Amino acid sequence: MNIKDIINYGKNYLNENNVDDYETIVKIIVEYVFKINKNEFILHYEDEADELAVFDYKRYLKQIADGVPIQYITNKQEFMNLNFYVDENVLIPQPDTETLVEEVISIYKDTKCEILDLCTGSGAIGISLAKYISESYVTISDISQKAIQIAKLNSETNQVHNKMEYYESDMFTNIEKKQYDIIVSNPPYIETSIIEALDKQVKHEPYIALDGGSDGLKFYKIIVKNSPDYLKNGGRLFLEIGYNQKDSVMKLLEESKNYSNIYSKKDLGGNDRIIVATRR
Ligand SMILES: C[S@@+](CC[C@H](N)C(=O)[O-])C[C@H]1O[C@@H](n2cnc3c(N)ncnc32)[C@H](O)[C@@H]1O
Repeated sequence: MNIKDIINYGKNYLNENNVDDYETIVKIIVEYVFKINKNEFILHYEDEADELAVFDYKRYLKQIADGVPIQYITNKQEFMNLNFYVDENVLIPQPDTETLVEEVISIYKDTKCEILDLCTGSGAIGISLAKYISESYVTISDISQKAIQIAKLNSETNQVHNKMEYYESDMFTNIEKKQYDIIVSNPPYIETSIIEALDKQVKHEPYIALDGGSDGLKFYKIIVKNSPDYLKNGGRLFLEIGYNQKDSVMKLLEESKNYSNIYSKKDLGGNDRIIVATRR
């Protein structure tokens, strides 16, 4: 098979298997497997493809048709213009989460600050903050040992590991009690009963990264209850939320009486996406 046949084969296969955006996905896999820049395919149309590489290519196409996200095949996702290694042990960082990171940066860009990123996964949030807030020191934590290993790797490749600390911890339980300026978190927030109905791609992501308990609020309740002990007065809590959780999470914060100046912001798609609150 030459490269042109390979591309056509991939497009037909994914199209027949009802994969969305199949042309883009074929480009990414061809570039990844055959090491050809996707803007130069035309120059290589007649090149004969290596047989072993064709075998891998077909295997990846089948995985995509089965719902494996392309990012788990290439082990790459861009977030805040930085590159992150991802695999099936961590959630793929989502563009909507950039709204959360950008809000923290807009307030603290030129401020010396200590940050705690709870439920860090690949480390996308904490590492981006370490990168873009020059005088920050960032602690990241997750219950998953594998997630912490991946976050460490990502902090090294993004060259911020010298200003970061890592905890394997069930929420706050193992985290040294100190007064942070900022606590940021994108916790699991999907209601347990809804997880089964999600797209097959999402179901390839780690279950513990998704499951927010029966009402989706389990982790917000833990954060609202415990975060005051870990925040300076005047420090801020930044939370990502599901599109329909604004009222319930705001209510939790208001009822706690530990927070003021509570506001929400929408993501680029127009959905409520983040809540910010100031420790009284
Ligand atoms: C929605 S993912 C967010 C990942 C990352 N912050 C991001 O935005 O891409 C939630 C993360 O919470 C972690 N997690 C689940 N239960 C936890 C717990 N009890 N304590 C700490 N982390 C937990 C999961 O391992 C997962 O990495």
